[in-house]
Amino acid sequence: MTQAPTRPVITEDTAEDVDRLIGAVAHDIAEDPFPVKGLDHIRFYVGNAKQSAHYYSTAFGMTCVAYRGPEQGYRDHAEYVLISGSARFVFVGGVHGNAEATQHYARHGDGIADIALEVPDVDKAYQHAIDQGATGLGEPHDVTDDNGTVRVAAIATYGETRHTLIDRSRYSGPFLPGFVTRAPIVERPAGGPKRYFQAVDHVVGNVELGRMDEWVEFYKRVMGFTNMAEFVGDDIATDYSALMSKVVASGTRKVKFPLNEPAVSKRKSQIDEYLEFYGGSGAQHIAVATNDIIASVDAMRAAGVEFLDTPDSYYDDQELRARIGQVRVPIEELKARKILVDRDEDGYLLQIFTKPVQDRPTVFFELIERHGSLGFGKGNFKALFEAIEREQERRGNL
Ligand SMILES: [Fe+2]
Repeated sequence: MTQAPTRPVITEDTAEDVDRLIGAVAHDIAEDPFPVKGLDHIRFYVGNAKQSAHYYSTAFGMTCVAYRGPEQGYRDHAEYVLISGSARFVFVGGVHGNAEATQHYARHGDGIADIALEVPDVDKAYQHAIDQGATGLGEPHDVTDDNGTVRVAAIATYGETRHTLIDRSRYSGPFLPGFVTRAPIVERPAGGPKRYFQAVDHVVGNVELGRMDEWVEFYKRVMGFTNMAEFVGDDIATDYSALMSKVVASGTRKVKFPLNEPAVSKRKSQIDEYLEFYGGSGAQHIAVATNDIIASVDAMRAAGVEFLDTPDSYYDDQELRARIGQVRVPIEELKARKILVDRDEDGYLLQIFTKPVQDRPTVFFELIERHGSLGFGKGNFKALFEAIEREQERRGNL
Protein backbone atom coordinates (compact mmCIF):
# COMPACT_ATOMS: atom_id res chain seq x y z
CA MET A 1 0.00 0.00 0.00
CA THR A 2 1.41 3.40 -0.91
CA GLN A 3 1.42 5.98 1.83
CA ALA A 4 0.11 9.48 1.34
CA PRO A 5 2.71 12.29 1.37
CA THR A 6 3.60 13.64 4.80
CA ARG A 7 4.08 17.18 3.54
CA PRO A 8 1.32 19.71 4.16
CA VAL A 9 -0.81 19.90 1.03
CA ILE A 10 -2.11 23.42 1.50
CA THR A 11 0.31 26.30 1.69
CA GLU A 12 -0.43 29.41 3.70
CA ASP A 13 0.91 32.07 1.39
CA THR A 14 -2.24 33.86 0.28
CA ALA A 15 -5.63 34.86 1.65
CA GLU A 16 -7.15 32.18 -0.59
CA ASP A 17 -4.95 29.55 1.05
CA VAL A 18 -6.08 30.67 4.49
CA ASP A 19 -9.70 30.56 3.31
CA ARG A 20 -9.17 26.93 2.29
CA LEU A 21 -7.66 26.13 5.68
CA ILE A 22 -10.81 27.30 7.47
CA GLY A 23 -13.27 25.88 4.94
CA ALA A 24 -14.53 29.25 3.63
CA VAL A 25 -16.91 29.22 0.67
CA ALA A 26 -17.72 31.72 -2.08
CA HIS A 27 -20.52 34.03 -0.98
CA ASP A 28 -21.35 37.70 -1.62
CA ILE A 29 -21.75 39.38 1.79
CA ALA A 30 -23.41 42.38 0.12
CA GLU A 31 -26.59 40.25 0.01
CA ASP A 32 -26.55 39.70 3.79
CA PRO A 33 -28.76 41.63 6.25
CA PHE A 34 -25.76 41.68 8.60
CA PRO A 35 -22.63 41.55 6.40
CA VAL A 36 -19.55 40.13 8.16
CA LYS A 37 -16.05 40.20 6.70
CA GLY A 38 -14.64 37.85 9.31
CA LEU A 39 -13.40 37.59 12.87
CA ASP A 40 -11.50 40.72 13.86
CA HIS A 41 -10.05 39.56 17.16
CA ILE A 42 -10.76 37.59 20.31
CA ARG A 43 -10.39 39.48 23.57
CA PHE A 44 -9.48 37.60 26.75
CA TYR A 45 -9.77 39.01 30.23
CA VAL A 46 -7.05 37.30 32.26
CA GLY A 47 -5.55 37.46 35.73
CA ASN A 48 -2.12 38.49 34.50
CA ALA A 49 -1.89 39.76 30.92
CA LYS A 50 1.87 40.16 31.03
CA GLN A 51 2.34 36.48 31.79
CA SER A 52 -0.43 35.39 29.39
CA ALA A 53 1.30 37.30 26.59
CA HIS A 54 4.48 35.41 27.40
CA TYR A 55 2.72 32.01 27.55
CA TYR A 56 0.90 32.48 24.25
CA SER A 57 4.16 33.64 22.66
CA THR A 58 6.25 30.69 23.81
CA ALA A 59 3.66 27.92 23.95
CA PHE A 60 1.32 28.87 21.07
CA GLY A 61 3.91 30.57 18.86
CA MET A 62 1.97 33.83 18.72
CA THR A 63 3.73 37.13 18.04
CA CYS A 64 3.14 40.22 20.15
CA VAL A 65 2.58 43.21 17.85
CA ALA A 66 0.87 45.92 19.90
CA TYR A 67 0.27 47.13 23.45
CA ARG A 68 -1.81 49.69 25.36
CA GLY A 69 -1.69 50.43 29.08
CA PRO A 70 -1.01 53.01 31.76
CA GLU A 71 2.10 54.16 29.83
CA GLN A 72 -0.23 55.34 27.05
CA GLY A 73 -2.66 56.96 29.49
CA TYR A 74 -5.07 54.00 29.82
CA ARG A 75 -5.35 53.77 33.59
CA ASP A 76 -7.37 50.56 33.99
CA HIS A 77 -5.86 47.83 31.84
CA ALA A 78 -2.71 46.41 30.29
CA GLU A 79 -3.62 45.02 26.84
CA TYR A 80 -1.29 42.87 24.71
CA VAL A 81 -2.16 42.10 21.07
CA LEU A 82 -0.78 38.83 19.72
CA ILE A 83 -1.17 37.45 16.22
CA SER A 84 -0.57 34.20 14.36
CA GLY A 85 -1.25 34.49 10.65
CA SER A 86 -4.68 36.12 10.35
CA ALA A 87 -5.67 35.18 13.91
CA ARG A 88 -5.55 38.02 16.43
CA PHE A 89 -5.93 37.83 20.21
CA VAL A 90 -5.91 40.53 22.87
CA PHE A 91 -4.94 39.58 26.43
CA VAL A 92 -6.24 42.14 28.89
CA GLY A 93 -5.45 42.37 32.59
CA GLY A 94 -6.70 44.90 35.15
CA VAL A 95 -4.06 47.07 36.81
CA HIS A 96 -6.26 47.72 39.88
CA GLY A 97 -9.04 45.98 41.72
CA ASN A 98 -11.93 47.94 40.22
CA ALA A 99 -10.92 47.49 36.58
CA GLU A 100 -13.47 45.75 34.35
CA ALA A 101 -11.01 42.94 33.56
CA THR A 102 -10.26 42.38 37.27
CA GLN A 103 -13.97 42.03 38.05
CA HIS A 104 -14.56 39.77 35.04
CA TYR A 105 -11.60 37.63 36.06
CA ALA A 106 -12.98 37.29 39.62
CA ARG A 107 -16.26 35.97 38.25
CA HIS A 108 -15.01 33.79 35.39
CA GLY A 109 -11.28 33.23 35.66
CA ASP A 110 -9.36 33.73 32.43
CA GLY A 111 -12.04 33.90 29.78
CA ILE A 112 -13.21 35.29 26.47
CA ALA A 113 -14.99 38.60 26.94
CA ASP A 114 -15.35 39.61 23.31
CA ILE A 115 -15.53 37.84 19.96
CA ALA A 116 -15.08 40.90 17.75
CA LEU A 117 -16.30 40.87 14.16
CA GLU A 118 -15.06 42.97 11.27
CA VAL A 119 -18.00 44.42 9.38
CA PRO A 120 -18.12 46.79 6.38
CA ASP A 121 -20.86 48.98 7.90
CA VAL A 122 -21.06 49.19 11.69
CA ASP A 123 -24.20 51.37 11.76
CA LYS A 124 -26.14 49.09 9.44
CA ALA A 125 -25.08 45.92 11.29
CA TYR A 126 -25.82 47.42 14.71
CA GLN A 127 -29.24 48.73 13.65
CA HIS A 128 -30.19 45.37 12.16
CA ALA A 129 -29.10 43.59 15.35
CA ILE A 130 -31.10 45.96 17.58
CA ASP A 131 -34.15 45.71 15.32
CA GLN A 132 -33.93 41.93 15.69
CA GLY A 133 -33.88 42.12 19.48
CA ALA A 134 -30.17 42.11 20.32
CA THR A 135 -29.05 43.98 23.43
CA GLY A 136 -26.85 46.97 22.60
CA LEU A 137 -23.71 47.42 24.71
CA GLY A 138 -22.37 50.44 22.83
CA GLU A 139 -23.88 52.53 20.06
CA PRO A 140 -21.87 53.14 16.88
CA HIS A 141 -19.15 55.72 17.41
CA ASP A 142 -15.76 56.75 16.02
CA VAL A 143 -12.47 56.26 17.83
CA THR A 144 -9.53 58.20 16.43
CA ASP A 145 -5.80 58.63 16.84
CA ASP A 146 -2.93 59.73 14.57
CA ASN A 147 -3.31 56.53 12.52
CA GLY A 148 -6.91 57.19 11.52
CA THR A 149 -10.39 56.29 12.68
CA VAL A 150 -12.23 53.09 13.48
CA ARG A 151 -15.99 52.88 13.89
CA VAL A 152 -17.17 50.49 16.59
CA ALA A 153 -20.33 49.31 18.33
CA ALA A 154 -21.09 46.30 20.52
CA ILE A 155 -23.92 43.86 21.16
CA ALA A 156 -24.38 41.23 23.85
CA THR A 157 -24.37 37.50 23.24
CA TYR A 158 -24.47 34.52 25.67
CA GLY A 159 -23.38 35.04 29.28
CA GLU A 160 -21.12 38.04 29.74
CA THR A 161 -19.72 37.67 26.24
CA ARG A 162 -20.03 40.42 23.65
CA HIS A 163 -19.55 40.97 19.94
CA THR A 164 -17.80 44.22 19.16
CA LEU A 165 -18.46 45.29 15.56
CA ILE A 166 -15.52 47.04 13.91
CA ASP A 167 -14.95 48.88 10.65
CA ARG A 168 -11.19 49.41 10.38
CA SER A 169 -11.12 50.42 6.71
CA ARG A 170 -10.00 53.98 7.62
CA TYR A 171 -7.34 52.90 10.12
CA SER A 172 -3.65 52.05 9.59
CA GLY A 173 -2.28 51.63 13.14
CA PRO A 174 -0.99 48.40 14.70
CA PHE A 175 -4.39 47.48 16.18
CA LEU A 176 -6.86 50.07 17.46
CA PRO A 177 -6.48 53.72 18.48
CA GLY A 178 -4.24 54.14 21.51
CA PHE A 179 -2.23 50.99 20.86
CA VAL A 180 1.48 51.29 20.10
CA THR A 181 3.65 48.88 18.16
CA ARG A 182 5.35 46.36 20.41
CA ALA A 183 8.29 44.09 19.61
CA PRO A 184 7.84 40.30 19.88
CA ILE A 185 8.29 39.02 23.45
CA VAL A 186 10.43 36.00 22.58
CA GLU A 187 12.49 34.80 19.64
CA ARG A 188 11.02 31.87 17.73
CA PRO A 189 13.01 28.65 18.32
CA ALA A 190 15.34 27.93 15.38
CA GLY A 191 14.20 25.13 13.06
CA GLY A 192 10.58 25.09 14.22
CA PRO A 193 7.51 26.08 12.19
CA LYS A 194 7.22 29.76 11.26
CA ARG A 195 3.94 29.81 13.16
CA TYR A 196 1.83 27.11 14.77
CA PHE A 197 -1.50 28.16 13.25
CA GLN A 198 -2.76 30.52 10.57
CA ALA A 199 -6.35 31.47 11.40
CA VAL A 200 -9.25 31.02 13.78
CA ASP A 201 -11.52 28.30 12.41
CA HIS A 202 -14.38 28.41 14.92
CA VAL A 203 -15.34 29.58 18.40
CA VAL A 204 -17.62 27.38 20.49
CA GLY A 205 -20.12 28.66 23.06
CA ASN A 206 -21.45 26.68 26.03
CA VAL A 207 -24.95 27.69 27.12
CA GLU A 208 -27.31 26.45 29.82
CA LEU A 209 -29.52 23.39 29.55
CA GLY A 210 -32.41 24.00 27.18
CA ARG A 211 -31.04 27.26 25.76
CA MET A 212 -29.06 26.08 22.72
CA ASP A 213 -31.93 26.55 20.27
CA GLU A 214 -32.58 30.04 21.63
CA TRP A 215 -28.99 31.05 20.79
CA VAL A 216 -29.09 29.32 17.42
CA GLU A 217 -32.18 31.42 16.65
CA PHE A 218 -30.39 34.53 17.95
CA TYR A 219 -27.55 34.15 15.43
CA LYS A 220 -29.99 33.37 12.60
CA ARG A 221 -32.21 36.35 13.39
CA VAL A 222 -29.62 38.92 14.48
CA MET A 223 -26.71 38.07 12.18
CA GLY A 224 -28.41 36.21 9.34
CA PHE A 225 -26.26 33.16 10.08
CA THR A 226 -27.41 29.75 8.85
CA ASN A 227 -27.23 26.28 10.34
CA MET A 228 -24.39 24.09 9.19
CA ALA A 229 -25.18 20.43 8.73
CA GLU A 230 -23.38 19.14 11.79
CA PHE A 231 -25.80 18.41 14.57
CA VAL A 232 -24.93 16.43 17.65
CA GLY A 233 -27.57 14.73 19.72
CA ASP A 234 -27.99 11.50 21.62
CA ASP A 235 -25.83 9.61 19.17
CA ILE A 236 -22.64 10.94 20.73
CA ALA A 237 -23.67 10.67 24.35
CA THR A 238 -21.47 8.46 26.44
CA ASP A 239 -22.58 6.66 29.57
CA TYR A 240 -21.48 9.57 31.72
CA SER A 241 -21.46 12.70 29.59
CA ALA A 242 -23.84 14.16 27.08
CA LEU A 243 -24.27 17.36 25.16
CA MET A 244 -26.29 18.74 22.33
CA SER A 245 -24.58 20.85 19.68
CA LYS A 246 -25.59 22.86 16.63
CA VAL A 247 -23.44 25.04 14.40
CA VAL A 248 -24.31 28.45 12.95
CA ALA A 249 -22.08 30.20 10.43
CA SER A 250 -21.82 33.35 8.35
CA GLY A 251 -22.48 33.08 4.61
CA THR A 252 -18.78 32.76 3.80
CA ARG A 253 -18.27 30.20 6.62
CA LYS A 254 -15.38 32.37 7.82
CA VAL A 255 -17.22 32.81 11.11
CA LYS A 256 -18.47 29.55 12.61
CA PHE A 257 -20.06 29.30 16.04
CA PRO A 258 -20.92 25.83 17.33
CA LEU A 259 -23.23 26.09 20.37
CA ASN A 260 -23.35 23.41 23.06
CA GLU A 261 -25.78 22.74 25.85
CA PRO A 262 -25.57 19.96 28.42
CA ALA A 263 -27.85 17.01 27.88
CA VAL A 264 -29.40 15.09 30.72
CA SER A 265 -27.03 12.31 31.70
CA LYS A 266 -26.22 10.01 34.58
CA ARG A 267 -23.30 12.09 35.79
CA LYS A 268 -22.12 15.67 35.40
CA SER A 269 -21.39 16.47 31.77
CA GLN A 270 -18.32 18.41 30.64
CA ILE A 271 -20.64 21.32 29.73
CA ASP A 272 -22.07 21.36 33.27
CA GLU A 273 -18.54 21.41 34.64
CA TYR A 274 -17.70 24.39 32.41
CA LEU A 275 -20.89 26.28 33.38
CA GLU A 276 -20.22 25.70 37.08
CA PHE A 277 -16.58 26.78 37.01
CA TYR A 278 -16.98 29.63 34.50
CA GLY A 279 -19.99 30.96 36.36
CA GLY A 280 -22.48 30.68 33.51
CA SER A 281 -22.47 30.64 29.72
CA GLY A 282 -19.30 31.50 27.86
CA ALA A 283 -16.90 30.60 25.08
CA GLN A 284 -15.61 27.06 25.57
CA HIS A 285 -12.94 26.58 22.95
CA ILE A 286 -11.22 28.28 20.07
CA ALA A 287 -10.23 26.12 17.14
CA VAL A 288 -7.22 27.37 15.23
CA ALA A 289 -6.40 26.17 11.72
CA THR A 290 -2.99 24.84 10.78
CA ASN A 291 -1.67 23.41 7.53
CA ASP A 292 0.73 21.11 9.41
CA ILE A 293 -0.78 19.78 12.60
CA ILE A 294 2.14 17.37 13.07
CA ALA A 295 4.74 20.14 13.24
CA SER A 296 2.44 22.38 15.31
CA VAL A 297 1.70 19.72 17.92
CA ASP A 298 5.37 18.76 18.18
CA ALA A 299 6.43 22.39 18.69
CA MET A 300 3.64 23.18 21.14
CA ARG A 301 4.17 20.00 23.15
CA ALA A 302 7.90 20.76 23.34
CA ALA A 303 6.96 24.21 24.66
CA GLY A 304 4.83 22.70 27.42
CA VAL A 305 1.28 22.72 26.00
CA GLU A 306 -0.76 19.83 27.40
CA PHE A 307 -3.06 17.99 25.00
CA LEU A 308 -5.88 15.63 25.80
CA ASP A 309 -4.94 12.01 25.73
CA THR A 310 -6.62 9.60 23.34
CA PRO A 311 -6.69 5.89 24.05
CA ASP A 312 -4.52 3.71 21.78
CA SER A 313 -7.65 1.69 21.14
CA TYR A 314 -8.95 4.66 19.13
CA TYR A 315 -6.20 4.09 16.54
CA ASP A 316 -6.27 0.29 16.63
CA ASP A 317 -10.03 0.09 16.07
CA GLN A 318 -10.55 -1.61 12.70
CA GLU A 319 -13.92 0.06 12.11
CA LEU A 320 -12.38 3.47 12.62
CA ARG A 321 -9.42 2.68 10.35
CA ALA A 322 -11.80 1.58 7.63
CA ARG A 323 -13.92 4.71 8.00
CA ILE A 324 -10.92 7.04 7.96
CA GLY A 325 -9.26 5.52 4.90
CA GLN A 326 -6.11 7.16 3.60
CA VAL A 327 -4.94 10.42 5.19
CA ARG A 328 -1.77 12.41 4.52
CA VAL A 329 0.27 10.88 7.35
CA PRO A 330 0.64 7.28 8.53
CA ILE A 331 -1.79 6.52 11.33
CA GLU A 332 1.15 5.64 13.58
CA GLU A 333 2.29 9.29 13.40
CA LEU A 334 -1.18 10.41 14.51
CA LYS A 335 -1.26 7.79 17.26
CA ALA A 336 2.13 8.91 18.59
CA ARG A 337 0.75 12.45 18.96
CA LYS A 338 -2.85 11.56 19.90
CA ILE A 339 -4.21 13.45 16.88
CA LEU A 340 -7.80 12.55 15.99
CA VAL A 341 -9.19 11.96 12.48
CA ASP A 342 -12.70 12.40 11.17
CA ARG A 343 -14.08 11.93 7.68
CA ASP A 344 -17.32 12.90 5.98
CA GLU A 345 -18.63 13.06 2.41
CA ASP A 346 -16.53 16.17 1.64
CA GLY A 347 -13.16 14.97 2.92
CA TYR A 348 -11.39 14.58 6.24
CA LEU A 349 -9.95 16.60 9.08
CA LEU A 350 -7.23 16.11 11.67
CA GLN A 351 -7.77 17.64 15.12
CA ILE A 352 -6.46 17.67 18.67
CA PHE A 353 -7.63 19.45 21.83
CA THR A 354 -5.53 21.05 24.54
CA LYS A 355 -6.31 20.69 28.20
CA PRO A 356 -7.80 23.84 29.80
CA VAL A 357 -5.30 26.70 29.49
CA GLN A 358 -5.98 28.25 32.91
CA ASP A 359 -6.56 27.01 36.46
CA ARG A 360 -10.32 26.65 36.07
CA PRO A 361 -11.44 23.69 33.92
CA THR A 362 -13.00 26.00 31.34
CA VAL A 363 -11.44 27.43 28.15
CA PHE A 364 -9.30 25.27 25.88
CA PHE A 365 -7.95 25.30 22.33
CA GLU A 366 -8.26 22.97 19.37
CA LEU A 367 -5.85 22.59 16.45
CA ILE A 368 -7.59 21.61 13.21
CA GLU A 369 -6.20 20.69 9.78
CA ARG A 370 -8.98 20.48 7.21
CA HIS A 371 -8.79 18.49 3.99
CA GLY A 372 -12.14 19.24 2.39
CA SER A 373 -14.28 18.35 5.39
CA LEU A 374 -16.44 21.21 6.66
CA GLY A 375 -17.27 19.26 9.81
CA PHE A 376 -16.17 19.71 13.40
CA GLY A 377 -15.15 16.15 14.27
CA LYS A 378 -18.55 14.77 15.24
CA GLY A 379 -17.23 11.24 14.82
CA ASN A 380 -14.57 12.00 17.41
CA PHE A 381 -16.89 13.40 20.03
CA LYS A 382 -17.35 10.10 21.80
CA ALA A 383 -13.61 9.40 21.88
CA LEU A 384 -12.96 12.99 22.97
CA PHE A 385 -15.55 12.96 25.74
CA GLU A 386 -14.17 9.75 27.13
CA ALA A 387 -10.76 11.39 27.26
CA ILE A 388 -12.19 14.56 28.89
CA GLU A 389 -14.02 12.45 31.45
CA ARG A 390 -10.81 10.76 32.51
CA GLU A 391 -9.45 14.25 33.27
CA GLN A 392 -12.70 15.26 35.02
CA GLU A 393 -12.52 12.16 37.16
CA ARG A 394 -8.97 13.06 38.22
CA ARG A 395 -10.27 16.46 39.39
CA GLY A 396 -13.10 14.79 41.28
CA ASN A 397 -15.82 16.48 39.21
CA LEU A 398 -17.36 13.50 37.47
FE1 LIG B 1 -14.15 22.52 17.79
